[in-house]
Amino acid sequence: MASINLLETSAAIFCFLIIYYLFFKKPHGQLLRDWPVLRMLPGLLVEFHRIHDFSVEILEISGLTFQFKGPPFTGMDMLVTVDPANIYHIMSSNFSNYIKGPEFQEVFDVFGDGIITTDSELWKNLRKSYQAMFHSQEFQRFSVSTMTSKLKDGLVPLLNHFAEEGTPVDLQDVFGRFTFDTILSLITGSDPKTLSKEMHEDESAKALDDVGEGILQRHVKPKFLWKLQNWMGFGQEKKMKEADATFDRVCAKYISDKREEITKSQGIIDGDSQDLLTSFMKLDTTKYKLLKPSDDKFLRDTILAFILAGTGTTASALSWFFWLLSENPQVVANIRQEITNTNLSRTGNVQEDSDKLVYLHGALYEAMRLYPPSSFGRKSSVQSDVLPTGHKIDANSKVIISQYALGRMRAIWGEDALQFKPERWILGNGSLKHEPSFKFLAFNSGPRTCLGKHFAMIQMKMVVVELLQNYDIKVIKGQKIAPVLGFILSMKHGLRITITKRCTA
Ligand code: HEM
Ligand SMILES: *[C@@H]1O[C@H](CO)[C@@H](O)[C@H](O)[C@H]1NC(C)=O
Ligand SMILES: *[C@@H]1O[C@H](CO)[C@@H](O)[C@H](O)[C@H]1NC(C)=O
Ligand SMILES: *[C@@H]1O[C@H](CO)[C@@H](O)[C@H](O)[C@H]1NC(C)=O
Repeated sequence: MASINLLETSAAIFCFLIIYYLFFKKPHGQLLRDWPVLRMLPGLLVEFHRIHDFSVEILEISGLTFQFKGPPFTGMDMLVTVDPANIYHIMSSNFSNYIKGPEFQEVFDVFGDGIITTDSELWKNLRKSYQAMFHSQEFQRFSVSTMTSKLKDGLVPLLNHFAEEGTPVDLQDVFGRFTFDTILSLITGSDPKTLSKEMHEDESAKALDDVGEGILQRHVKPKFLWKLQNWMGFGQEKKMKEADATFDRVCAKYISDKREEITKSQGIIDGDSQDLLTSFMKLDTTKYKLLKPSDDKFLRDTILAFILAGTGTTASALSWFFWLLSENPQVVANIRQEITNTNLSRTGNVQEDSDKLVYLHGALYEAMRLYPPSSFGRKSSVQSDVLPTGHKIDANSKVIISQYALGRMRAIWGEDALQFKPERWILGNGSLKHEPSFKFLAFNSGPRTCLGKHFAMIQMKMVVVELLQNYDIKVIKGQKIAPVLGFILSMKHGLRITITKRCTA
C-alpha cells in the first residue's frame, strides 16, 4: 500500500500549495503564476473547474497565444493558440509538421487505431476509403433515408409522448439517443432503439461520457499520475478501463451479428446492404493496403471512431442551440418565418430544402461558434518550427488549439463576440457569409476537416425544422447551465424542458 501513501502525500502537498496560492499569492496582472518546480500547474489546478472560460481569459490577455509550462519531466508543457494565422499554418500550410502523434494515441488509447487517432499513411488510407463511401450514391440515399426515419419514427413519437404526458424531459439526453440511433443504424443497419419511451440507459453512451471526461483529465495530470491510476484502477481511470471493456464487448457483438447476417444472406442479396459495417468488411484491400477489413480490431476501432465522431458532437450542438433559442425568442420567430417563406418539400428533396434555409444555417453556425462541440484540438510537432506569430515550437512538443476560446475572442469576432447573433452569418443580399475555417473551426480545418459536416448540418436542420414547426419548447427555469469538462462540450446537467404541441391553424 506504499503507493497509496505516496499518492496521499502528494495530494496533500498539492492541496497545501493550492491553498497557499489561493490565499497568499494571488498574482497581479497575470493569470497563471510561474512557480519554481511546479511552474504553472498549481494555477491550472485551481482553475480547472472552469477551464474553458479560463482559457478564454488567458488567451485574450496574452494576445491569442499562450505558452503553458508544467513541472519538469511531466510532459505538460504546451503552446495554446487561437491565432487564425497560426491555425492556418498548423492545420493547412504546414499540416505535415503537425501530427496527432504517439502521445495523442496514448491519451486516446480507448479509440485504438481509428481515424481520429492515427496519422500518416494509415490515416490517409482510412480517410480515402471513408470519403469514397460517403460520396457514393448508395450511401447518400441510405443516409438520407436513415435520418428521415429516425426523425419520423423515433424522435417525433417520443416527443409526442412527452407532450401528451406533460412531463419534463432532458432534451440533451433525447438528442443523444437520436444521434446514437442514427449513427448506429448507419453503421450496422439495425436500430438500437434507445429512443423508446422507457429511455433505457445505454451502456456505450454512458461509457462514451466517462471516456470524454477521462481524456480531458489526462491533459492536465502529469502522465505518470494517470498511468499509475490506470494501472491501479481507481478514480476516473477505473471508469476509463470499464468503458474500454464495454466498447470491446458491444462492438464484438455488432461485428459477429453482421458476419452472421452476411453468411446467411450469401448469394441472396448481393451488394445490396449499404450500411457502413458491410462496406468496411468488403473494403478493397488492393486500394487501401494498410486496412484490414477481416480483422475484428480494425472493425471495432472503425465503429468506435464513428460513434465518437458523430453522436455526442451533433447532440451537443443541438442542445446548446435550443438553449440559445430559449434565450433569444426573436431568433425562433425568424427561423419560423424563414421556414414559412421557403417552399419546403415541394420536391421532397432533403438536400435542396436544407440549402434553402440560410438563416437557420447561420443560427446553427453561430451556436457552434460559441459552443463548438469539439472544444479543443491537440497537435504534436515533428520538427522545430516558428509560427507566423513568431512563437518557437520545439520538435515533439504539444500545441493546443481551443475551439471554444477561438469563437469568443473579441480580437477576432468583434466586441459583441459573446453575443448570439445569427445575423453575423448573413450578407446584405441574404446569402450566407463565408468565414474561413481557420477562424470558424467547429468542423476543423485543412486536410482533417470533419467528414460528417454535410451530414450533420442536414440532420440538425431537419430536427430544428420539425421541432419549431410542430412544438413549443420551454426550458425549465432555474436549472444550472454549464459545459462538461470534456473534449466534447456537452451540457453538464443536460437541458430540462417541457414540450407542447403547437396549434397550427
Ligand atoms: C455538429 C456535428 C459535428 C461536429 C461539430 C464535428 C466536428 C469535427 C471535428 C472538430 C473534427 C476534427 C477532430 C480532430 O481531428 O481532432 C472532426 C473529424 C471527423 N468527423 Fe466530425 N463533427 C460532427 C459530426 C460528425 C458526423 C455526424 C460524422 C459522421 C457521420 C463525423 C465524422 C467525422 C470523421 C470521420 C472525422 C475524422 C476526420 C479525419 O481525421 O480525417 N462528424 N469532426
Ligand atoms: C510552412 O508555412 C510557411 C508560412 O506559414 C510557408 O512559407 C512554408 O512554405 C510552409 N512549409 C511547408 C512545407 O508547407
Ligand atoms: C413558393 O411558391 C409560391 C407558389 O407556390 C410562389 O409564389 C413563391 O414565389 C415561392 N417562393 C419561393 C421563395 O420560391
Ligand atoms: C450576395 O453577395 C455575395 C458577395 O457580395 C455574392 O457572392 C453572392 O452571389 C450574392 N448572392 C446573391 C443571391 O445575389
